[in-house]
Amino acid sequence: MVVLQRCLLRLLRLRSLLIITIIIVLVYMFKTYNQEEALEVPEVPIQDAHIAPPKIDWHNYTQIEYERKCEGIGEQGMPAHLPKSDSKLEEKLYSENGFNGALSDKIPLNRSLPDIRHPGCKKKLYIESLPTVSVVVPFHNEHWSTLLRTAFSVLYRSPEHLIKEIFLVDDASTKGFLKRELDEYVAKHMSKVSVIRLANRSGLITARLAGAREATGDVLVFLDSHTEANVNWLPPLLEPIALNYRTVVCPFIDVVAHDTFEYRAQDEGARGAFDWELFYKRLPVLPKDDARMPEPFESPVMAGGLFAISRVFFWELGGYDPGLDIWGRRAVRAQL
Ligand SMILES: *[C@@H]1O[C@H](CO)[C@@H](O)[C@H](O)[C@H]1NC(C)=O
Ligand SMILES: *[C@@H]1O[C@H](CO)[C@@H](O)[C@H](O)[C@H]1NC(C)=O
Ligand SMILES: *[C@@H]1O[C@H](CO)[C@@H](O)[C@H](O)[C@H]1NC(C)=O
Repeated sequence: MVVLQRCLLRLLRLRSLLIITIIIVLVYMFKTYNQEEALEVPEVPIQDAHIAPPKIDWHNYTQIEYERKCEGIGEQGMPAHLPKSDSKLEEKLYSENGFNGALSDKIPLNRSLPDIRHPGCKKKLYIESLPTVSVVVPFHNEHWSTLLRTAFSVLYRSPEHLIKEIFLVDDASTKGFLKRELDEYVAKHMSKVSVIRLANRSGLITARLAGAREATGDVLVFLDSHTEANVNWLPPLLEPIALNYRTVVCPFIDVVAHDTFEYRAQDEGARGAFDWELFYKRLPVLPKDDARMPEPFESPVMAGGLFAISRVFFWELGGYDPGLDIWGRRAVRAQL
């Protein structure tokens, strides 16, 4: 009995000791957490929530009017086709790229695109003081015209003073034209664009990190190397970050058809999620968000391809894990 009692007593004592320890740890964690919160001084200014920042119409109507009149192959994002005689080259470039590279070469690098946004976007105003942007475009053996069209579309369709720089990050491409020819073309025709070279094939994430390290803009925008920025694309990506620098913003991603280069919508937007095998899944937008379109909506999971993030926040999070190789997979290194 006594033994049992003593054990019980000891257990009780142990338990109270444990509870006290847990309380101390919790109080300590709470205190340090609050201290951290208080110490943080974000470099990107956060707008004062009580004073509504002035908003303006960011559309470039000169550009919009000009584009509307453009005619020709692939203009207005219309589906295009090559004459039969090109089919040998077409086949070769198809198998190299997985899309119709020969056709892409025939379409102007600065082609016009249709405005397929939600009608509400045309009237939307965004705050006047938006952060500057560094665009990072990683590539490996990308086709010439699709790569350059990505950069041109950004230059044409962004407010000039917001684009600090565009980095094309070459992940050890082996195609000859992506070396000196690209350097020379970019130097001659594209101000603000420069090429960063990785010495060895390092994968998408390392390439993005290399671009991010060089970046000096307030916001990092990551794009794929065969994309086209459409009308007034940038202000909606930047405003939520200007209002709260810990917001990461993903754009709606339209489709450029791999065979005809037709520009068309993917869908009317979706939230991101994981399924039980941790594959990325698209979920319908919540009814409450649907009713507020075209306002931005929250998403629990983001796809990693195209997005905007405050440069300060990106590094606060530690950037990407540099151990991620090719397409975000962690390499399984042989342990010999
Ligand atoms: C693209 O550039 C060409 C040559 O400078 C020009 O003639 C054409 O109008 C431009 N198109 C657009 C949509 O800016
Ligand atoms: C608007 O577009 C025109 C024509 O492309 C361009 O010259 C001008 O710099 C653009 N304006 C801004 C603010 O980027
Ligand atoms: C690139 O790879 C070579 C061998 O393939 C190696 O000797 C060199 O150290 C690597 N360079 C970098 C920067 O990792």
